[in-house]
Amino acid sequence: MAIRNRVWEIANSFGLENLRIKDRVVPENIGPNEVLVRLTATSLNYRDYLMAIGQYNPRQKLPLVPCSDGAGVVESVGSNVKKWKTGDRVIPIFAQSWQDGTPNVDSLRSTLGGPNDGCLMEYGVFDAQGLVRTPDHLTDAEAATLGCAGLTAYNAVVTFGGIEPGSTVLTLGTGGVSLFALQFAKMLGAKVIVTSSSDEKLARAKKLGADEGINYSTRSNWERDVRKYTDMKGADLIIEVGGAGTLPKSMMAVRPYGTIALIGVLAGGESNLSLYPILMQGVKVQGVIVGSKADFERMNSAISQNKMKPVVDRSFGWDEVPDAFAYLRSGQHFGKVVIEWQG
Ligand SMILES: NC(=O)c1ccc[n+]([C@@H]2O[C@H](COP(=O)([O-])OP(=O)(O)OC[C@H]3O[C@@H](n4cnc5c(N)ncnc54)[C@H](OP(=O)(O)O)[C@@H]3O)[C@@H](O)[C@H]2O)c1
Repeated sequence: MAIRNRVWEIANSFGLENLRIKDRVVPENIGPNEVLVRLTATSLNYRDYLMAIGQYNPRQKLPLVPCSDGAGVVESVGSNVKKWKTGDRVIPIFAQSWQDGTPNVDSLRSTLGGPNDGCLMEYGVFDAQGLVRTPDHLTDAEAATLGCAGLTAYNAVVTFGGIEPGSTVLTLGTGGVSLFALQFAKMLGAKVIVTSSSDEKLARAKKLGADEGINYSTRSNWERDVRKYTDMKGADLIIEVGGAGTLPKSMMAVRPYGTIALIGVLAGGESNLSLYPILMQGVKVQGVIVGSKADFERMNSAISQNKMKPVVDRSFGWDEVPDAFAYLRSGQHFGKVVIEWQG
């Protein structure tokens, strides 16, 4: 008998008002290299919100199950699958076919939550190679924060940032990516400066280990504060989530030959940027696109060794999905917003 698979869909057109619960069925037979996963949690990324309102990819085919992040338990495996067994706790990877090294055009199209269905569903079928093991000390809700924000921050800090004890990292804002970057940078012994629009969030960031906090709403020349906190040298690495609206200041806040990890465009995606600072200061502007499965496994090893816990701000239930998206949009959150259900 067919088993019901409830999913959330962006139904016939974009917009949070068009998010709907729909019934699908769990496939009775999965392919020999596939794994059926009973999903129990997802976390929201800004990308998921942009996807839902049609701004990420207006040509995305609908209906679409949103949310690239997820976590759950293996229900059954195909006949060729040796790596996984029923009961294993797993996390689907963001770009399903990006296994290692740099991505190609096809692997960048293999992403969950658009163009392919994401994790806001009770059961998902994934290629056996599209999963990583959940760190034992994490709940599924915590594990569901790692796939996009966690891995992006890890690659910015570790792979591209080359951060070591004594380095200085500047994170912009206190969203998911930035707080993961704070945690990884502290793990590596770096000094961390955090900006936020809220003094209360800055105080929370200091409890997580941030050394300095700057309120970018009241300190419009925050790049000067960054220089002051770095003995006028500038930061070694900037976690740039603002994009066009913050990049000119980040160029002034980074040290010569330092790195700006260009991750997000919360403050604009188009710019008339002066190129002189890049040229005259040897600044490296490094775009970051989440990461590969091999990166994910390296990150999970560091998370397990350090018993690191992601910062979950608030958890919503299965029936509260539109509220969860609205909460993310409001910008009130500190770290990650998750949705959990029984599966
Ligand atoms: N390239 C990639 O692979 C990748 C991966 C993940 C995310 N991203 C992108 O990175 C960005 C952040 O993602 P996220 O998931 O961390 O988002 P998020 O959790 O929604 O974080 C948003 C936070 O950013 C801060 N912020 C907003 N506008 C800002 C500004 N003008 N200057 C400084 N900080 C500002 C705010 O912090 P305060 O409330 O503290 O002010 C806000 O709460 C998004 O654009 C997302 O699409 C890209």
